[in-house]
Parts: sequence; C-alpha cells; structure tokens
Amino acid sequence: MSDNLQLNSAGKLKHFLDIEGLNRSILTDILDTAESFISVTDRSIKKVPILRGKTVANLFFEASTRTRTTFELAAKRLSADVLNINVGASATVKGETLLDTLRNLQAMHVDMFVVRHADSGTAHFIARHVLPHVSVINAGDGRHAHPTQAMLDMFTIRRVKGHDFGRLSVAIVGDIAHSRVARSQIHALNLLNTGDVRVVGPRTLMPSHIETLGVRVFHDLREGLRDADVVIMLRLQRERMKGAVLPSEHEYYQLYGLTEEKLTMAKPDITVMHPGPINRGVEMDSQVADGSRSVILQQVTHGIAVRMAVMSMAMQEGSSQDVDG
Ligand code: CP
Repeated sequence: MSDNLQLNSAGKLKHFLDIEGLNRSILTDILDTAESFISVTDRSIKKVPILRGKTVANLFFEASTRTRTTFELAAKRLSADVLNINVGASATVKGETLLDTLRNLQAMHVDMFVVRHADSGTAHFIARHVLPHVSVINAGDGRHAHPTQAMLDMFTIRRVKGHDFGRLSVAIVGDIAHSRVARSQIHALNLLNTGDVRVVGPRTLMPSHIETLGVRVFHDLREGLRDADVVIMLRLQRERMKGAVLPSEHEYYQLYGLTEEKLTMAKPDITVMHPGPINRGVEMDSQVADGSRSVILQQVTHGIAVRMAVMSMAMQEGSSQDVDG
C-alpha cells in the first residue's frame, strides 16, 4: 500500500493513511507542528482558528477510547465543527454501503473523515473515493497501520529522550503479528534514523520476515531489553487472533510481561510506553505501568497536539485544492 495517494504533486500531506510512503521531512514537520500546538492545550481558552468553518466527521467502525476522543478534542481545538457518527445507530446497519454513507456525509459538506475500521486498507479505499477537497485520516485499519499513534509515540520519545534518535535503542514487545501500531512505529523509527529497533515476542506472535523491515528480532524479553532506552509494550490483540497462538495469559505474563525485575536489564533511565488499552497483569505489571519511568498517560496527552498537527497540515493542503488524488 505504499503509494503517493497521501501526498499532492508538491509532496505535501493531503491524506494521512500510513507512515510507509512518507519521508523524514514530513514526519519532522508533524513533530515540530505538534510542538507548537502543545502550548494551546495549556491556555485557558484552548482554541486556534485554523479549521474554522471546516467540518470533521469521526467514523469509528471499531471501539476506541483514546483515539476517537483525542481526534475530537484536536478538531475542536482547531475550531472545526465535529460530527461523531455513531456507526451502530447509523444507516449502515440497514444495509447502506460505506461509499453511500460517505457520499451522504459529503453532501453535508464534510471536509475531513477520520476513519477507524477492522479491515486493513479501508482508509486507503475511502481516500480513493472522496471528493478532491476532502482529506482522510487513518485512525487504525485492521492490522495494517495506525499512523497517528506512531507519531504521538515518536513525539513522546523525542520529548523525553531528545531529538537524536540515532543514539537510541527502542524495543517493541508483545503481539507484533497482529499490531497495526507496531508496523507504523517500525516505519516511523526507521525514517527518523533510530539507531537500534528491536521487536520482542513469542514466535507465534512474530510475523515471518519481520527482519526485512530493519529490526532485530528477540524471543527472550530479558535479552530484548538489554541496554534499551525505550520499551513499547503492546496489547495481545485477541480480536485479530485465529486459533490458539498462546498457551495462556498467565504463561505469557511469566515470559513477556514487563516487571520491575525484567526492567533491570535495560538502561536505568529507560522510558516505558504503551499505546493503550493496557491489560494489567498480562503485558505489564501495575507497578511498571504506574511507575516513574512510565509515560503512558503523557502519550495520551500528546495525542491531542499530534492530531492537531496532522489535521491542520492535511486540511491546509485540502483548502488549496492542489491535489492529485
Ligand atoms: N491506542 C489506541 O488506539 O487506543 P484506542 O483503541 O482507545 O483508540
């Protein structure tokens, strides 16, 4: 799915669908723009007029707490009008197709769709069918991509560890096979020239040929954590697993659950991350999740500024009508 659907002829962001296909300069622009929006969230009046007069529709076909609400807050802080489509109560349950739903929303002059869907490729499909001035943001599609999550994670790493990703060892731990977050994080870390990107997990949860993405593969958590600067824990994506790929959650926790004892293998100032939702006692111990090295709630807060950055960059382009999609 690596194509230039995301960019216009000038190489500027039009849709934000995947980290793959973007370049380092766009990623850095997103991070720098997000930095400028952090101060907005600290003001008493948390608004800027960048998307005044624009309408954003949140179309979430899958459950979400963090992504949907931070997209809503981001759009409101940019002064957009926001439609939260309750998919379960919409005409899709009466058999209306996805494209007909989109056409009807476009007839109401929607300017941007934020889409989460269980099927990989849905955001790309929508981006190929919207009107030329409309932008599409992928809020997670199947096991394919979750690019704004990856960017808020990069933003968090940059804020905590500094701008030089080249000196960092980052370990992504858990269910790599079913994780759209891991895939987007790996592409983002590589584009930002991270010195050492590792994936850690059982063989049954590791995609074959994952090393071709430029990562080192570990099946032993202690080895994967050795001298790491950052560890990103992932949830077991039970809803995407087919068949028995795990013996039991208890056994998984014994081998791959993050505890204070296992963290002693990493650098003392290791940063602990998790995109959420956390399953305490499965992928990590509460002492670690709530400990001083955890930045899990900072990740959530940063999601607002990063999503403001992505929406404003894509919509700036949309309003110029300079599109090639
Ligand atoms: N990290 C993440 O995508 O969380 P939600 O499913 O709550 O949006």
